[in-house]
Amino acid sequence: MMDWTDRHCRYLHRLLSGQTLLYTEMVTAPALVRGGALHLLEHSPEEQPLALQLGGSDPGELAEAARLGVQAGYGEINLNCGCPSDRVQSGTFGAVLMKDPARVSECVAAMRLAVDAEITVKCRIGVDDQDPETVLPEFLSRIIAAGCERVTIHARKAWLQGLSPKENRDIPPLDYDLVYRMKQLFPNLHISINGGITSLTQACGFLDGGLDGVMIGRAAYHQPADILSRADTEVFGDPGGSSAEDAVRAMLPYMEAHLAGGGRLHQVTRHMLGLFAGRPGARGWRRALSEGAHRQGAGPELVEQALEALLALAADPQPV
Ligand SMILES: Cc1cc2nc3c(=O)[nH]c(=O)nc-3n(C[C@H](O)[C@H](O)[C@H](O)COP(=O)(O)O)c2cc1C
Repeated sequence: MMDWTDRHCRYLHRLLSGQTLLYTEMVTAPALVRGGALHLLEHSPEEQPLALQLGGSDPGELAEAARLGVQAGYGEINLNCGCPSDRVQSGTFGAVLMKDPARVSECVAAMRLAVDAEITVKCRIGVDDQDPETVLPEFLSRIIAAGCERVTIHARKAWLQGLSPKENRDIPPLDYDLVYRMKQLFPNLHISINGGITSLTQACGFLDGGLDGVMIGRAAYHQPADILSRADTEVFGDPGGSSAEDAVRAMLPYMEAHLAGGGRLHQVTRHMLGLFAGRPGARGWRRALSEGAHRQGAGPELVEQALEALLALAADPQPV
């Protein structure tokens, strides 16, 4: 998620869940290929399994960006056909590509030829006045023909004029039934559903209903422990996955290394504010991190102390 997630966030999320698939925020092919911004691909091997999401609409450029991504160690390359921001539309990529399935299929085919990694697509159900019932099956059959075997569908339209990107994640109505119908039409396509999913119970409902995957964005960011810590057991039937406390402890050496490399503490801790959401002491934890981590010289001991304070409160919820 652009401006929200980064490698530090993914490192934390991977500690919480060993099984879920993590995605980068959208990285544009022009930035990589024309701008040489290879630092955008940096990540730790511990973040795997990890997909790189690309933005772009030029098949040759996307093929080259996919090559760079695979060289950098990504196991999946995902093409963004869902982002509605103006910045993105002016470069003719993101959600506006829902209007040009022929171009999307050329892009998918070019990336498939260029790399061995799986090429996947994230899309909307349509844009503007398109009729999703006709547009989405056409879009999916084109990308399948080009070699895409896995897609994530954000189950609402994007309105390219008049709504901000934020409004475009809330206002156009969700149509989960349409995603189920796509699964019936394309039974061999691996379909993940996305949009407005806020709990694992809801996620399991979609899987029980016959969909192949569930992508959770905002809820996983804001309440990472609720979603990610429990995902390994509840969704994958695997005992892995760390508690929020254990993840905080495991983050301490990571923070140390980040500071030693010239980074600042808040760059890591900003992703940890919601770790204890809904638990006693959550407010104090959030405050200690958001106020303290920006201070010059702030180090992991701040985080350790905030954790101890939270655990002490949990052990004795009625402090004097
Ligand atoms: C701040 C922010 C940035 C986002 N950036 C991206 C992005 O880079 N690529 C992408 O495919 N979706 C992006 N999204 C959309 C989410 O991936 C997701 O499709 C959307 O939020 C709906 O899912 P949710 O209700 O689970 O959050 C972003 C969402 C937010 C809130």
